[in-house]
Amino acid sequence: MSDRTTTGDRRRMAATSLGWLAGALVAVAAVVAIALDGRAAALTVAMLAPLGAGALIAAHAADLRRSRSRSLSRRLALGLGLALGLVVLALLIAVRAMFLSEHDATIAIAAVGLAAVVGFRAVAVLLRGTREDVAALRRGLERVRAGDRDVRLRTGAADELAALADAGNGMIVALATGEAARDASEQARRDVVAAVSHDLRTPLTALRLIVEAIEDDLLDPATAREYLRTMRTHVDTLGALIDDLFELSRLDAGVIEWSMEQVRLAELVEETVAAMRPEARAKGVEVIDRVPAELALARANPEKLQRVLLNLLQNAIRHTPADGSVVVLAGRGSGADADAVEIEVRDSGEGIAVADRPRVFEPFYRGGSEAARTRSGSGLGLAIARAIVEAHGGRIWLADGAGEAHGTVVRFTLPISG
Ligand SMILES: Nc1ncnc2c1ncn2[C@@H]1O[C@H](COP(=O)(O)OP(=O)(O)OP(=O)(O)O)[C@@H](O)[C@H]1O
Ligand SMILES: [Mg+2]
Repeated sequence: MSDRTTTGDRRRMAATSLGWLAGALVAVAAVVAIALDGRAAALTVAMLAPLGAGALIAAHAADLRRSRSRSLSRRLALGLGLALGLVVLALLIAVRAMFLSEHDATIAIAAVGLAAVVGFRAVAVLLRGTREDVAALRRGLERVRAGDRDVRLRTGAADELAALADAGNGMIVALATGEAARDASEQARRDVVAAVSHDLRTPLTALRLIVEAIEDDLLDPATAREYLRTMRTHVDTLGALIDDLFELSRLDAGVIEWSMEQVRLAELVEETVAAMRPEARAKGVEVIDRVPAELALARANPEKLQRVLLNLLQNAIRHTPADGSVVVLAGRGSGADADAVEIEVRDSGEGIAVADRPRVFEPFYRGGSEAARTRSGSGLGLAIARAIVEAHGGRIWLADGAGEAHGTVVRFTLPISG
């Protein structure tokens, strides 16, 4: 929608001006007829009508040239000048028509002259604040252009300029918010690139050293086998990292090529827990499956769901000391999640530091000490889990670890099938 004056607007404005003029002439005629007589009233209207019309035509003509206007005060002064000019002309005509003495007319014109001086000065005084406000708005906007986002536009009145300042302030806040979001995502992108490069470089460096050793030395078969085993480990690590990255980037881009099925959670959890038992046993950690068999069917892709469970179980086992336990629970969601099943993986491990909690679902974010970081995974497990859960229409979060053991509690929801 445009706020520009259209031809239709101009026609309406001209009609309004005509209405005002007609109304004023009727009032003048009435006053003169009462004070003097009908003839005088007719004469006065005949004299004033063309003058009033002329002044209004001049005002409308000046408005047509508004695009060339350079000053607000000049426009106001023009209005005042037209009104006072009309009075002077009326007096001169009255003298000419001999129904006003030259003496009276001179005094009246002198009064109009004074009115002109006072009027122009009054316009200047009244416009001073407006001009200051306009200058303040301009200075404020120039600071915004120079990059300052703490600027707040302020004016000295509650008029249209104040409304303009309000709109401007809203725009500055929106600008600052947008820029902050852009900076944050730019920073996240840089972090990911740095993490990826680091994680790719570490196994590659090891592989390069082995290749150099093979090139330089005549290796005995035992060492060669040893080297091969190490190479296999690094190649596997690289492959897993690249697969994870690929998966995450596809999930981020919304590329979801898997189909949804009705999934019996109890069976899926049982299978997944069984797959993780050897690793848990090796660490002396007990994994307890408490998912009830009669749980509602979930709508999910079984392989992706298993991926989520594996990531959560792997984390739990990794961060739980020997003799600790990992428990998987599930049940119907409540409140906003009434149409979902809620699955929980809790462990009796060290838990997640308060400082790490808000960030663990970010790609490549690894909590704990620097030393722990080089040992553990790449920090993609929870990011992938979150992306998969969200692609299913669920959510995943860290719950408060109240209850039996003070470890980590991760919960996620999945929509119920049907
Ligand atoms: N059960 C848990 N107990 C304690 N800390 C955890 C637990 N699960 C996750 N964390 C913390 O959250 C971080 C991120 O977990 P995430 O699974 O995303 O990455 P990772 O396990 O380090 O690596 P990856 O999963 O890629 O092998 C971990 O580095 C760890 O600090
Ligand atoms: Mg993990």
